[in-house]
Amino acid sequence: MGSGRGSNYAALAEAIKRGELHACIALVLSDVQDSGILSLARANGHEARFIPPGSKRTVLSPEAEQDFVAAAQNSGADLIVLAGFMRVLKPGFLQHFPRRVINIHPSLLPQFPGLRAWEQALSAGVSETGCTVHLVDEGIDTGPVLAQARVPVLLGDTPETLHKRIQKEEHRILPVAIADYWQKINFS
Ligand code: GAR
Repeated sequence: MGSGRGSNYAALAEAIKRGELHACIALVLSDVQDSGILSLARANGHEARFIPPGSKRTVLSPEAEQDFVAAAQNSGADLIVLAGFMRVLKPGFLQHFPRRVINIHPSLLPQFPGLRAWEQALSAGVSETGCTVHLVDEGIDTGPVLAQARVPVLLGDTPETLHKRIQKEEHRILPVAIADYWQKINFS
């Protein structure tokens, strides 16, 4: 599920193609009709659907939540990956997929939860930030951490240069974290 450009979705699709992640992408869902993630998914031949999110800005409406749940359930997906999904998922969604929803966040959680974490890192003046793959719980960017990668903040960084450096690490750790988690819950 994603709302934006879809570069993390693309990293997963490429890791699968290279044989590094033994998975298939059952369905791509977005709350943004003209999002890059939907175009990329369609170009790759993955089923991709826009579901109207309702009138609230940060969460899904109750009806939309049910539509997302039904679509995810009907897809047969074992795991749900939030690859830049910019709404907070509530228990009404999460209860259907316990310990099966994974998020990628552009900071070293618990530092800088919430929106535009790379800008938060720049404003805070830290010398290092990074990215985190974690299980989604009912908090905002608070669930158990599966993987993290560190990224330096360089002199002269702009929000764009820093986010680009973080995303390079996101694309590297997300497929590995998913493969490791799947291995852990099924085979250990
Ligand atoms: C990624 O950097 C991801 O970590 C972030 O949105 C970007 C999506 O990029 N997610 C969050 O900030 C969630 N709190 P993408 O659409 O190119 O994958």
